[in-house]
Amino acid sequence: MANVVVVGAQWGDEGKGKLVDWLSERADVIVRFQGGHNAGHTLVIDGKVYKLSLLPSGIVRSGKLSVIGNGVVLDPWSLLAEIEKISDQGVPVTPDNLLIAENTPLILPLHQDLDQIRETAAGKAKIGTTGRGIGPAYEDKVGRRSVRVADLADRDTLQTRLDRLLAHHDALRKGLGAEPIDRAKLMAELLEVAPRILPYAGPAWRVLDKNRRQGKRILFEGAQGALLDIDFGTYPYVTSSNTQSGMAATGSGMGPGAVDFVLGIVKAYTTRVGEGPFPAELFDDDGQRLGERGHEFGTVTGRQRRCGWFDSVLVRQTCTTGGVNGIALTKLDVLDGFEELKICVAYELDGKRIDYLPTAASQQARVKPIYETLPGWSETTAGARSWGELPAQAIKYVRRVEELIGCPVAILSTSPERDDTILVTDPFAA
Ligand code: IMP
Repeated sequence: MANVVVVGAQWGDEGKGKLVDWLSERADVIVRFQGGHNAGHTLVIDGKVYKLSLLPSGIVRSGKLSVIGNGVVLDPWSLLAEIEKISDQGVPVTPDNLLIAENTPLILPLHQDLDQIRETAAGKAKIGTTGRGIGPAYEDKVGRRSVRVADLADRDTLQTRLDRLLAHHDALRKGLGAEPIDRAKLMAELLEVAPRILPYAGPAWRVLDKNRRQGKRILFEGAQGALLDIDFGTYPYVTSSNTQSGMAATGSGMGPGAVDFVLGIVKAYTTRVGEGPFPAELFDDDGQRLGERGHEFGTVTGRQRRCGWFDSVLVRQTCTTGGVNGIALTKLDVLDGFEELKICVAYELDGKRIDYLPTAASQQARVKPIYETLPGWSETTAGARSWGELPAQAIKYVRRVEELIGCPVAILSTSPERDDTILVTDPFAA
């Protein structure tokens, strides 16, 4: 039985929600393994729209187990609000269908504070974070001073954790001109939230192992995208976790052998939210048109996304570093009606042609895209369910993308509706 990891292969917002939902219908267990409520997944099922941030997408389907793995950073208040919202939409969330790894670090209000204080203080040098406290929470995890889910069960442990955590944060806040943390208030908040979170908590690695031994299908649901990866992304303009497939193992407690197929979600053009390099970014009418046709506004923050042509250099790179076996190409219909389309096939750096994004920030800022121009198509590709329904030029575009990135298209998604999909390779059967 194949287990599948789904990751974004660009800067996030590639349309993972639909694909994850499509795959989760056939999975038994759906696992989030990194990130937090900085993610925003929109699912459209039978015309009903569900917006998820932290809950795994499997939650909207009955009979599935959704797991929040230890690689995630979890804001308990935000999670409870999300549970309430989705329950109001008629989706029950109980310890029978939601399991939280007990070794998951928490995002506390002080993390969100720090995220926002830092971004404001940085001025023009800001990262453009979602302001959810993701980075500071991961810093505390690595700094060995996090409060983790299991700690909520014991008041004495909580006291010890807070001693260590606040010694660090109060010093930091003093330097930033912020008030010290109200320890008694934070303790009271944690004690209040504990009994509402703990019923969902457990040793997720054991449950996952049991499911795997029973031959259950496991879907690992990545958030953000590979170019936001803390190691391989456009550092420092990245998120604070590994967003690539390798994280599925450590972020859930399964060995790397548990993953059989890595599906990279790729948008037919490029977008990015927040600051940082973007070689194929467009500042002209074409860019505006991509943004308007693609409804490129952030699900979480509502920010307008930056838009550009498809960059095959970047996707080839993320398919390699993330071990992508096949891609799901999304939003091809946004390109409908363009007379000509461009694909970035290489960069020019100081007069030389290179076929990868250099690591040095100064070089990343200097690379210039080298484009190949392809003819567009006037017909619509929206809603196509077979290759025969696609205009010849659209098929040529897809084939050229495959060739340039060195990875085959496993799935072509032609609208937000789940059935508007052309399946080439079933990741679960691969
Ligand atoms: P953070 O994850 O809030 O720390 O933000 C760091 C960077 O990642 C910023 O550029 C954000 O815009 C970006 N980012 C975080 N989550 C997402 C996402 O789900 N989609 C797209 N970009 C994201």
